[in-house]
Amino acid sequence: MKVVIGSDHAGYDLKEELKDVLKEEGVEFLDVGTINGDDSVDYPDFAEMVALKVVGGEYDRGVIVCGTGVGVAIAANKVKGVRAANCNETVSARFSREHNDANILTLGSRIIGGAVAIEILKVWLAAGFEGGRHARRVEKISMIEERAGVSE
Ligand code: RB5
Repeated sequence: MKVVIGSDHAGYDLKEELKDVLKEEGVEFLDVGTINGDDSVDYPDFAEMVALKVVGGEYDRGVIVCGTGVGVAIAANKVKGVRAANCNETVSARFSREHNDANILTLGSRIIGGAVAIEILKVWLAAGFEGGRHARRVEKISMIEERAGVSE
């Protein structure tokens, strides 16, 4: 599995921690930044970069960190084909994969600590989509995108 990861300044430190976890787990990844520590940047820029690499098929999954995980989730979900889930605990993380086939995980560095974030990431990476009735529902989400003309 190939993962693309990004953050704004608020998520920078947590992003670096999560990269260590990806290395330990042997997961191939690309970091799209920010690379400038806590120098202020705009989270939609990094959300969009991660989102495009996932829907473009270059990367299987994306992880984006900002202060709350909310802004990057809102931004990433504007890209057609993205199903970004903001998870602050492992149950949502697991079900976001099993039921919603979430292809991007967003995390809030100001909401959860590093240990919780690492556990969420591990659970999210390990969980698979269950398909079946959930596939029908995910397909309905795609149909909303078609009707609403998202990112056109
Ligand atoms: C940056 O201050 C903050 O607004 C951002 O990291 C994020 O929490 C937005 O949703």
